Amino acid sequence: MSFRNTPLAVEHDAEDWSLLSPELCAEIDRHIAKYPEEWRQSAVMPALTLVQDANGGWLTRELMDAVAAYLRMPAVAVYEVATFYGMYDLEPQGRHKVCVCNSISCLLRGSEELIEHIEKTYDVKPGETTADGRFTFKEVECLGACRHAPAVMLDKTYHENLTPEALDALIENLE
Ligand code: FES
Repeated sequence: MSFRNTPLAVEHDAEDWSLLSPELCAEIDRHIAKYPEEWRQSAVMPALTLVQDANGGWLTRELMDAVAAYLRMPAVAVYEVATFYGMYDLEPQGRHKVCVCNSISCLLRGSEELIEHIEKTYDVKPGETTADGRFTFKEVECLGACRHAPAVMLDKTYHENLTPEALDALIENLE
């Protein structure tokens, strides 16, 4: 059977993905198994998420290269994914990530107020980490929680209908 637009497969040696632990490879394999063998590259997003989580919340170029090797895809195709989507970070992050949605529903429901509040209260601009390393503040595109705007994703947990006071309470609980 042939597939139109079958992605370009790039062969690598096993040492090219030696940065990935056997446990990580096993987790990535679970995602690869969801697709036909020639489409193993389709697992690139969960693979990057797993690798990022294992690396303290950010991706190095070497790790992206290792993902490319493991998925048999060109490195540049992995860079394209990692730089396009806001959930991937290419620089060291704080111990937590506070991601405030700045898309239309949340803007109409007060996310600008949340953003200004964070900037003033914690002395960080979007993309920056607090001086104590507690969290990195990110403005992000629609989180898909528009119905309960304004929405914030704190690490991997959604919080909705937030006020500055409610957001402070969440941040205060961060270690
Ligand atoms: S606009 Fe903010 S969650 Fe959709």
